[in-house]
Amino acid sequence: MKKSKTSFVCQVCGYKTPKWVGKCSECGSWNSFVEEIEESKSEIRKKRNGLEIKRISDIEGVETERFSTGINEFDQVLGGGVVKGGVVLIGGEPGIGKSTIMLQISDKLSKHGKRVIYFSGEESLTQLKLRCDRLNINGDELFFSATNNIEDVLDSLSDKRADVIIIDSIQTIYSSEISSAAGTVSQVKYVTHKLVEFAKSKGVSVFIVGQVTKDGVIAGPKVLEHLVDTVLYFEGDYERGLRILRAVKNRFGSTNEVGLFEMSGKGLIEYRSSSFIDNNSDAPGRALTVVMEGTRAFLVEIQALVSQTYFNYPKRNVTGFDLNRLNMLLAILEKKCGFNLSTCDVYLNIVGGLKITEPSVDLAVCAAIISSFRDIAIEKNAVFLGEVGLTGEVRTPVFLDMRINEAKRFNIKKIIGNMNNVSDKSVELFAIKHINEITNYI
Ligand SMILES: Nc1ncnc2c1ncn2[C@@H]1O[C@H](COP(=O)(O)OP(=O)(O)OP(=O)(O)O)[C@@H](O)[C@H]1O
Ligand SMILES: [Mg+2]
Repeated sequence: MKKSKTSFVCQVCGYKTPKWVGKCSECGSWNSFVEEIEESKSEIRKKRNGLEIKRISDIEGVETERFSTGINEFDQVLGGGVVKGGVVLIGGEPGIGKSTIMLQISDKLSKHGKRVIYFSGEESLTQLKLRCDRLNINGDELFFSATNNIEDVLDSLSDKRADVIIIDSIQTIYSSEISSAAGTVSQVKYVTHKLVEFAKSKGVSVFIVGQVTKDGVIAGPKVLEHLVDTVLYFEGDYERGLRILRAVKNRFGSTNEVGLFEMSGKGLIEYRSSSFIDNNSDAPGRALTVVMEGTRAFLVEIQALVSQTYFNYPKRNVTGFDLNRLNMLLAILEKKCGFNLSTCDVYLNIVGGLKITEPSVDLAVCAAIISSFRDIAIEKNAVFLGEVGLTGEVRTPVFLDMRINEAKRFNIKKIIGNMNNVSDKSVELFAIKHINEITNYI
């Protein structure tokens, strides 16, 4: 018998080596190599047809056919609904609610005349039934199957009509044609490839649920994200039940949109109010700002705690913010405003589980830190807007009008930042050109 060839594959990036190594030379991950059997090239080689080359004007254009899921927030993230024949990968931490949202979407779709088949590799049919009863899911055109084999899935679909199929989750489904265990890079890649092929040839929309690793990326190499049309991440704050659905790749729409949901006993509910303010307390260390997520503005509360350090090195800790950016802002506050923060521990928290990457929150972060440092509360109805540069200058954020409008929705009329050309007369503007002027407001 011909000896099958094996190689060691990094489960993070997909890099292959003939020998086991402790550290991946490609992505730097430790202990990520698993031995996998290589499929011979001749087995996977396909019959080739003559290649057709066409001029762009000769290619017939077709409208992307879309249908609504019946859940507005989800449609918006997809760029206007589910695309026929599109493949969507949805990733998120365990227990965040991936299966819940997929079931709710299946239910809505099936009630709008779409035939949906839900393949679960994670839960038995009885478990699914229990969950459906809790979520009040009873669509007539909704079918379930508990399986772990992709060939079984595709076989069962050959004689059944389906408009949408759901695979929960990709890590639990394996192909008998690949010898490695389910969830390994080769399996995940191959199964996804098969599903993409199926979706494109049959015009069936496919949703694939993917687990994420502890680093927050979808388990399996980046290639998985390349294969599919749309990649969505589900993230959020467990305590408050808030969930944020974010598109990180979309071949059929923008990646700027986010969807907001709230987890309840009856499943995920669309989150209408777009504010991330915890309470109306006037404790020191909180500052408000407005951040942009795609084309939407959100009022966000930033909390800081500055306390005396008892160790040689001060501790700096962030939730939902970039630690390096915090260190930079602390250095600016120290150098430009004269605050002696080097003997203080600083903790920073973005309320509501949002992860903020845009620099326009800098001014609010600085305000929260100074407020906690001086133990003086900031006025409740003030919003800080602006990026802080290394020389201490405050810059005007983009989409200023949208941010001001969002603040106004919550009856906040005092805007602090570097603003020149705001025509809105219904708000009070307080100009700050340099960070050292911030002390006038705290
Ligand atoms: N009876 C219940 N009442 C309220 N909320 C519940 C109830 N049961 C489950 N939940 C919520 O649903 C969440 C689990 O959702 P779900 O199973 O959809 O997550 P998942 O992302 O699919 O997880 P996994 O990765 O394990 O498959 C729980 O974390 C909890 O918040
Ligand atoms: Mg699940």
